[in-house]
Amino acid sequence: MTELKWWQTAVFYQIYPRSFADGNGDGIGDFPGMTAHLDYLQKLGVDALWLSPHFPSPQADCGYDISDYCEVAPEYGTLDDFKQFLDGAHQRNMRVILDLVLNHTSDEHPWFLESKSSRDNPKRDWYIWEDGVDGGPPNNWYSGFGGSAWEYDAATGQYYYHFFLKEQPDLNWRNPEVKQAMWDAVRFWLDMGVDGYRLDAIATLFEDPGLSQQTATRTLTELRTAFAAAFPDAPSETEQSEVAAEYEKLFQYQIMQPGVHELMQELRTIIAEYPDRVLVGESDEISFYGAGDNELHMAFNFPLMRTSRITPQWVRQNQEERLSALPPGSWPCNTLGNHDSSRVYSRYGDGEHDAAQARLSLALMLTLKGTPFLYNGEEIGMADFDMASIDLFMDNLGVWFYHAAIDEVGMLPEEALRLANNASRDKNRTPMQWANAANAGFSPAGVKTWLPVNPNYAEGVNVAEQKSVPESLLNFYQDMLHMRRETPALISGEYQPLHTEAEDYLAFLRTSPEQTCLVVLNMSPKPQEISFDLEGKQSRLVFASEEKFEHLDLSELHLEPFEIFIGELE
Ligand code: NOJ
Repeated sequence: MTELKWWQTAVFYQIYPRSFADGNGDGIGDFPGMTAHLDYLQKLGVDALWLSPHFPSPQADCGYDISDYCEVAPEYGTLDDFKQFLDGAHQRNMRVILDLVLNHTSDEHPWFLESKSSRDNPKRDWYIWEDGVDGGPPNNWYSGFGGSAWEYDAATGQYYYHFFLKEQPDLNWRNPEVKQAMWDAVRFWLDMGVDGYRLDAIATLFEDPGLSQQTATRTLTELRTAFAAAFPDAPSETEQSEVAAEYEKLFQYQIMQPGVHELMQELRTIIAEYPDRVLVGESDEISFYGAGDNELHMAFNFPLMRTSRITPQWVRQNQEERLSALPPGSWPCNTLGNHDSSRVYSRYGDGEHDAAQARLSLALMLTLKGTPFLYNGEEIGMADFDMASIDLFMDNLGVWFYHAAIDEVGMLPEEALRLANNASRDKNRTPMQWANAANAGFSPAGVKTWLPVNPNYAEGVNVAEQKSVPESLLNFYQDMLHMRRETPALISGEYQPLHTEAEDYLAFLRTSPEQTCLVVLNMSPKPQEISFDLEGKQSRLVFASEEKFEHLDLSELHLEPFEIFIGELE
């Protein structure tokens, strides 16, 4: 196979630590629990694990508000437990990357406590403090999570800036001491042997120092409500582009500001001191690839998942735009779901063929060019699970939405709850369903889990039962993941779309020096008769979701509804 880096050949699997496995029976996931399931992950066939934040945190934003960057949250275990997990993963040939939250700390981080203690504290300038204007905040900027981006601190008479929750004050990245402190933390885990980082919220690292007023005409609540109300269907295209334009104006001085690329380049030089590490950016900005080798190794292809229906046209257009925009030599990175988004099973399903569509989603991830990122639980078809009352919400984004919908938009509580569930990420972070047992086998019977367990574990959506059913989604994941490892063209091959007008199916070639594979995904409930004129070539069967002969004539390929077909040209 062409010489590729490990992160180019790997399939990543995101673990949300709080919800993965509860080793000590307190209702919260932890490292002993994760370690106990490393064999499961190895058998599944994933190559690398991304952990959402595992650091001490008051949990205002479910772990993305960190109060110590060089420790393990006590409820997840100790540094030794972490090391055991890391070693265990490495022994099983799986890499581990961590979540690096640079934009903000928790408001309970000692740095911030010092910073807010007085105007002349040496750490005052580690965060962004400004005077108010005319008795109000310094300007009209919003927090991306709702409300003003400024929080008043009565003790020192100034406002601090927070792009996310008020419990997540933004660091001042123009201060060299901040960089130094954070780079020390970056090295702390690299020295321990972690294989890289997924970079949280990098687009918001800098803001306009002139504090210019934003000029949007609609409020964030209005824009959000328009989107959430349409869920799970996407709003009309006109509405989408209007909203997108307004969003851009709303955050025009807070996102992708000068300085961010230089900072990423600096981080890249630190990473480069360590052999073979990777940086993946939580941003769809192609510009984070820099010149191809001086910023991030990858940035997520989020545009692919900005739909509720994956259609052949949607994928073709996305690939055309994305692949042609990447700088030479850079590597794509695809995902369809994570801890911030509705689950794959719920999001792209049509309610009638969800199981088939979940298989197609995986097939797409494993056959498109680029590194795939999967999210824990999708392999058993875990679905979104709405919270029955606002008191059960752990995600403050949902709580904020609920109150804004009632107070600002005048909605009735039931309607506000529905929208809050749509906006909240609790629904896709419920505990992993390991078995058809109390608490889905996540925690012992009688224990109150940190988020409710989706009762559909009793309807076959659990690991233990799916293991023993040959045609289960879990076994399908396992088969496809192992097949991909053995199929060089799917890993390194160039992408070439075929039948570019087809509305029901997606067909493309992946060509590497070793082989050419034809991938055909029938995304419709209708059978298809498809003819390929590939210089009269036959194909050897690599993978099919239906019974197929070992060798096939590609001039008359028959596909069943939702069939997945991969053949090697011969
Ligand atoms: C992106 C993370 O994925 C999300 O979960 C978090 O709330 C924000 N960044 C803030 O850290």
